[in-house]
Amino acid sequence: MTLRARILGAAAGGGLPQWNCGCTNCRLARAGEIPSQTQSSLAVTANGTDWTILNASPDIRQQLAQTPPLHPTGLRSLPLASVILTNGDIDHVAGLLTLREVQPFALYATQGIHDVLAQNPVFDALRGEVVPRRVIELGTPFEPAPGLTATLFPVPGKVPLYMEGETVETELMGEQTVGVELVCRSTKAFYIPGCARLTDDLRARIDGADAVFFDGTLWRNDEMIREGLGQKTGARMGHMSMSGPDGSIAAFEGLDIARKIFVHMNNTNPVLRPASDEKAEAEAAGWTIGQDGMELEL
Ligand code: MLT
Ligand code: MN
Ligand code: ZN
Repeated sequence: MTLRARILGAAAGGGLPQWNCGCTNCRLARAGEIPSQTQSSLAVTANGTDWTILNASPDIRQQLAQTPPLHPTGLRSLPLASVILTNGDIDHVAGLLTLREVQPFALYATQGIHDVLAQNPVFDALRGEVVPRRVIELGTPFEPAPGLTATLFPVPGKVPLYMEGETVETELMGEQTVGVELVCRSTKAFYIPGCARLTDDLRARIDGADAVFFDGTLWRNDEMIREGLGQKTGARMGHMSMSGPDGSIAAFEGLDIARKIFVHMNNTNPVLRPASDEKAEAEAAGWTIGQDGMELEL
């Protein structure tokens, strides 16, 4: 058994191109000059047969169509064992609605994330007797697929955008935003698609990993503002940026991690342009820019 991980979607919410966006990257992607990317999701397997999908993106129908190992193997048999959710954001849960055709799989999340689903009755389309909702305690290992052990742990983040109140705590630690540790035999990988800050605890946790898939939403904290696309910084969105002294590239320095892969890139992020200086800079620091369909054997 080896851990296989396949990026189903490398982009953040909205994807590349985003339907209503005319930024440089979205125009280039529409013109076919840079690769398009679908929304945030990763598929993993330990035995090569039974898969777990980490986050169900609104693009899951297209992602599954493009992923032969996840195609049906019989009339109604699918190599999908389970889905794990890392938060209640639309880009991570809306795809559950596509998975509604009385198809059994287990749905794993913290109580806090299950509560968000429970508040939205449209998700009752996934009937509990077909898709059991399994509540996972932070720090308690579980087996989402044969040979695979997963553990959820809190990372700084915020409640989903559609649940924000008057004041928003962007570095909340709890059940709302989690990372996933994945272990198969002696291989250990982490999936952390949203993270507001790399705390000392988090650094210690991921040190020595074989792979870390990490929040690559923005290159610069003020990227969306500079592009004229709104007033929000990355920090306000609950995402640390790649560059700068407070960025993830700097924060990972000194850690012993064999593969560092950015995922969940916003469509404004210059690293999505294959020939950009920013992509070269990230790669020089040992990072891989995730792409749809990219597969790792760990
Ligand atoms: C995020 O990652 O910040 C969210 O997915 C934003 C959104 O809901 O569009
Ligand atoms: Mn997102
Ligand atoms: Zn755009």
